[in-house]
Amino acid sequence: MTTIEQIENILQIPDTDKKTPVRVEEAKFIYQFILGHKIHKTLEIGLGYGRSASYIMLATGKPHIAIDPFQSHYGYQAIKNITDAGLKDNFTHIEDFSHFALPELCHKNEKFDFVFIDGDHKFDGILIDYYFASMLVKTGGYILFHDTWMRSTRLVNKFVEQNRHDFKTHPVSLANLHLIQKIQDNDTRDGMYFREFYTTKSWLKYRLITHLNDHPKGLLSKLKSIFRP
Ligand SMILES: C[S@@+](CC[C@H](N)C(=O)[O-])C[C@H]1O[C@@H](n2cnc3c(N)ncnc32)[C@H](O)[C@@H]1O
Repeated sequence: MTTIEQIENILQIPDTDKKTPVRVEEAKFIYQFILGHKIHKTLEIGLGYGRSASYIMLATGKPHIAIDPFQSHYGYQAIKNITDAGLKDNFTHIEDFSHFALPELCHKNEKFDFVFIDGDHKFDGILIDYYFASMLVKTGGYILFHDTWMRSTRLVNKFVEQNRHDFKTHPVSLANLHLIQKIQDNDTRDGMYFREFYTTKSWLKYRLITHLNDHPKGLLSKLKSIFRP
C-alpha cells in the first residue's frame, strides 16, 4: 500500500505543466482534512494528473469518482499515476463534461461526504459545478474549491456566502482553497431572494496578482521580492 511519504515519487507530472495540478501543500491539506473529518464517499471535478485524486484515496481508502472529459489531452497520465500508486481498484473516472455527468449522479441519488471542484475554471462552469455539488453533498458534508486566486472562483464563493444560507464557510489556512459545509438539508430561499455578491477587495487582489504575473520584473514585483525573498 502506497503511503503519503511515497506518493510524490510515484506521481509522474511533467515539469512543463506546473499550472494543472494542485500544489503538494494543498494536496496534503486535503489529505489531513479528510483524515480529520469522517469523510468516506468522495467526488472530484477535474482530474488533471491525478494528484488530488491520489491524496483523497490515500486518506479515505474508499472509492472515489473523478469527472474529466479531457484526459486524452494528458495522455491518460492520471490513470497511469493512480494505477502505479495501487489505487486503481477504488477509482472511477467518468470521461465526460461535469455538466453532463453531475446531473446523472443526481438522478442516481448519489450522495457524497466531500466534493472537490477543480474543473472548468470559468465563472459559469464553477457555478454549475457548485449547483449540482450542492445537491450531491450530504448535509454535514463539505465542498472544497481550488484556485480562489481567480476572480471567477471568488465570485462563486461570494455568491454562495451571500445567497446560500444552507452552506457555511470555514476558514482555511491555505489562500488558494475555499471550504464550505452544507449545514441544512434544503435551500429555503423563495423565488425572489437575491443578494449582490460583487467583491471589490477580491477584485483588487486579483488585479495585483495578475499584474505581478504579467510584469515579473516590474517595480511592484521588486517590492514584493524585498518583502518575500
Ligand atoms: C486544474 S486541473 C485539475 C487538477 C487536479 N485536481 C489535480 O490536482 O491534479 C483541471 C482539470 O479539469 C478538467 N476540466 C476542464 N473542464 C472540465 C469540465 N467541464 N468538466 C470536468 N472537468 C473539466 C481538465 O481536463 C483538467 O484535467
